Amino acid sequence: MPTCRACGDRAEQFLDLGRQPLSDAFLRPEEVATEFTYDLTVTCCQGCGMVQLGSEVPRERMFHSEYPFRTASSHRMTQHFRAVADRLVAHSSTADPFVVEVGCNDGTMLRRLAETGVRHLGVDASADAVRDATAAGVQAQCAFFELETARRIAAEHGRADVVYAANTMCHIPYLDSVLAGAAALLTDDGVLVFEDPSWEDVFRLASFDQIYDEHFYLFSATSVSALALRHGFRLVDVEHLDVHGGELRYTLARSGAREPGPAPAAQVARERALGLTDPDVLAGFAERVAAKRTALLDLLRSTRAQGRSVAGYAATAKSATVLNYCGIGPDLIPCVYDTTPEKQGRLTPGTHIPVLPFPDSPDDLPDTFVLFAWNHTAEVLDKESAFRADGGRWIRYVPDVEEV
Ligand code: TMP
Ligand code: ZN
Repeated sequence: MPTCRACGDRAEQFLDLGRQPLSDAFLRPEEVATEFTYDLTVTCCQGCGMVQLGSEVPRERMFHSEYPFRTASSHRMTQHFRAVADRLVAHSSTADPFVVEVGCNDGTMLRRLAETGVRHLGVDASADAVRDATAAGVQAQCAFFELETARRIAAEHGRADVVYAANTMCHIPYLDSVLAGAAALLTDDGVLVFEDPSWEDVFRLASFDQIYDEHFYLFSATSVSALALRHGFRLVDVEHLDVHGGELRYTLARSGAREPGPAPAAQVARERALGLTDPDVLAGFAERVAAKRTALLDLLRSTRAQGRSVAGYAATAKSATVLNYCGIGPDLIPCVYDTTPEKQGRLTPGTHIPVLPFPDSPDDLPDTFVLFAWNHTAEVLDKESAFRADGGRWIRYVPDVEEV
């Protein structure tokens, strides 16, 4: 019986997405023969309600110097993080705050702080991403954030008023060490703020592609409250974010340091009403996921049977789960276009579809795009309005499988 990686209680498996590759391991052709795979299953803890993967991939396999994702690849996310930077500074109770970002990637958020002269430090496990951050004028160092790292930062730079992480905390199975690190690093009044895909949104949208090696946890206010309490913190605020397919931003303060607002209790009540940890409800979710696979395969096959050409729109990490779970290879989707140079010229993990730069000429676009970057729908549809006007169609699978 699997145990909860967060609290040690019993965890029940409710979803099996099969054998999967690493979602960001875009391959050179010569790497296909030695590709790493693992079993992607999902469990829910009967004690703390934490939704998590049934097995853990060693962190060095996922996060290393060649980690290809760059935050700045989305214009909308760049704007989002500029606003975050201003908020973090406004929230701080000191005149000269020190902000630490865990998983700073290319420094998109911290650039804003650097520009305005706010003391900051980024930490990231990818040397290449840290190099991009440093080149942009951001203070950053290459490391995995854990207790030892936090102690070292506190000794070298002093205590932090804010420890912030976006789309990073859910990547870290060993949360004990991270929370202990935050406790060691933060001032008495300091806050730990993190934002990650929300289990409620994944459940509502059946956006099962949010589940992959890097997303070890799918947090909820229920599970994060329990996590906070075990580490001397309290969840004092929670806020829904309309980015990356629906996220929650959690604010944790030391117990007794700040009075919780009304939002955490309201969110916990909503999660309880939906039954987000109820085994029958979870079984229903698994059935909806399986139905989506059938519907998507049917739609792709009928599109191809009509003689329409198809390509994938953006080689997202999430697309690995969809492609591998559904068994979609180059026969159904011959190529995927993506703007990231680090992904171009490589093959998608597991299904080995070529990743190419977007064609220069509209004449070379396919008849139909499969929208793998559905979490960036507004930005993409805005950018591709001419494709639609010229009769191009989109296939999407969130919230439902459909052609639009
Ligand atoms: P994400 O879903 O993990 O944020 O990854 C986004 C990927 O999508 C990244 O590889 C860049 C790519 N992308 C495009 O190719 N074109 C676009 O317009 C957008 C928004 C993203
Ligand atoms: Zn648990």
